[in-house]
Amino acid sequence: MKHLTRRDFINKLTIATGSGYTAMVALGMIPASPAKAMKLEGKVEGKHVIILGAGLAGLSAAYELDKLGYKSTIVEARSRPGGRIWTIRKGMRETELEGAEQICKFEEGQYFNAGATRIPHHHTSVINYCRELGVPLENFNNINEGAYYYCEGKGPLSNKRIRQRELHNDMRGYTTELLAKAIDQNALDMPLTNEDKEKFIEYLIAEGSLNPNKLYQGSSRRGYEVAPGAGNIPGKLASIPDLLTVIQSGWLEPHFYNIPEYTYEQQTTMLTPVGGMDQITKAFEKRVGKKIIYEAEVTEIRKTERGARIVYINKDKQAQELTGDFCICTIPLPVLSNIAADFSPNVQRAVDSVPYNNSCKIGLQFKRRFWEEDDNIYGGISRTNMDITQIVYPPSGYLSKKGILVGYYNYGRTAERTGNLSLADREKMALEQGSKIHPQYKQEFENSFSLAWQKIKYSQGAWATFTPETRQTHYKALLEPDGPIYFAGDHVSYLIAWMAGSFESAQQAVAGIHKRVKESATSMNAGK
Ligand code: FAD
Ligand code: ALA
Repeated sequence: MKHLTRRDFINKLTIATGSGYTAMVALGMIPASPAKAMKLEGKVEGKHVIILGAGLAGLSAAYELDKLGYKSTIVEARSRPGGRIWTIRKGMRETELEGAEQICKFEEGQYFNAGATRIPHHHTSVINYCRELGVPLENFNNINEGAYYYCEGKGPLSNKRIRQRELHNDMRGYTTELLAKAIDQNALDMPLTNEDKEKFIEYLIAEGSLNPNKLYQGSSRRGYEVAPGAGNIPGKLASIPDLLTVIQSGWLEPHFYNIPEYTYEQQTTMLTPVGGMDQITKAFEKRVGKKIIYEAEVTEIRKTERGARIVYINKDKQAQELTGDFCICTIPLPVLSNIAADFSPNVQRAVDSVPYNNSCKIGLQFKRRFWEEDDNIYGGISRTNMDITQIVYPPSGYLSKKGILVGYYNYGRTAERTGNLSLADREKMALEQGSKIHPQYKQEFENSFSLAWQKIKYSQGAWATFTPETRQTHYKALLEPDGPIYFAGDHVSYLIAWMAGSFESAQQAVAGIHKRVKESATSMNAGK
């Protein structure tokens, strides 16, 4: 049986309470913060910073330190940079923690982003680096009103796909109709003048597409049964379901909340690098790749009189030592928890206690882009209450022959269930559930690659989860340097599960080291 660590125990508790990313976003538990541009002055010579991990936090820290004259060395356990930036392509291999082994059989040129995929337009730290490093971006159409919702259940409208625009416009119609009625009946607990009421009702009519009697009786916004065309085809609207039918068919459950349109992080415009998220990693690798020691697993983190001492096991299984003035540690906390370290008690408690969420994705390669050819879906996401949770369509390569769909992307307990399936059963689940939305699946499918982030050795989870209470305790402990050791990564930010959190926390660590070095130089000069 697998040894149960302190972290395992805490993680199991989190999984039991099931905190999904979508729910966290919906509840506003993942706030965003504006990025500050990195602008540090003054060159430093003769200082060495050891960076643990070549994910975006580690790579960007090395890049910024380089600009300031510091020497840095990145110690990375994997044979590739990028960490949770991982674009899956032909020939890639992975063995999950419990031994599931796979090699990617996608066709040359096909890929999907197993980790980060989309960039909010206000994540300026990410966009600034793309600009600075010459990484072209394209639109990631997170919102597609033509994509589907599929609700498995017992209601009259369950077990069939509908276009998202149908539910969104029906619900806008019904809620505005009810509100207009409440205003007419003076049932609102507000002192409205007649003029206020008129203005409000006019707005509701426009917002909900209500008729002059302030009733919702359908609208072309929700699409047509027969689309308008040339000659004698004016278009025919479909009949609309009544509100009770919508409610009783499960369409008001959280799976179908309009998260992409409403939450700050997912609103239009979202962006993604042309050719895969790994283009960002590659751009950093060009600048700082020579500083990276690959296949070097950190096993000890020590404080010394001069700074930090790191022990790692190299690819020949030999223990090696590195010393530096400072260390920036970006290793995900579930992994760090099993590394011997001289952390102070508060820091060690944080490292051992902050739970990480589960998340699973599968890439499905199809012979034909039936979602474009047959369903007119160009990018965006279909969503469902089945375990697959969502199907993400490729945001580029339109009209080309083959394509890869993200056949599921789920979190929390659903992802725990998915990750516990064998690779073959994960594929089977994706195909069986997905074909309820797209019956073309079984005929067009070629091959798949799946991963469960909680079972990826050097991640052991998708992203950290904090509560308001642990933000005051564990989170705070990671914000301050522990002697010569600074922490960075999205877990050291209020931008959890976003690359911007990794970049901004790395910038903060670099700024902290630089300030300290400059202050100590000033005080030494003053003492001369
Ligand atoms: P990591 O990328 O985890 O880097 C840590 C590094 O440490 C890794 O390279 C690892 O190999 C290394 N390491 C671990 N253990 C050791 C050891 N013992 N010795 C040496 N090295 C070690 N963000 C977005 O902005 N947009 C998105 O759409 C998005 N979607 C996501 C979807 C998923 C499923 C996941 C998992 C994440 C997503 N994110 C997204 C978040 C984003 O991927 C992360 O915030 C970011 O990549 C984390 O970078 P990092 O450098 O902080 O950590
Ligand atoms: N930020 C991550 C996403 O966009 C979790 O899916």
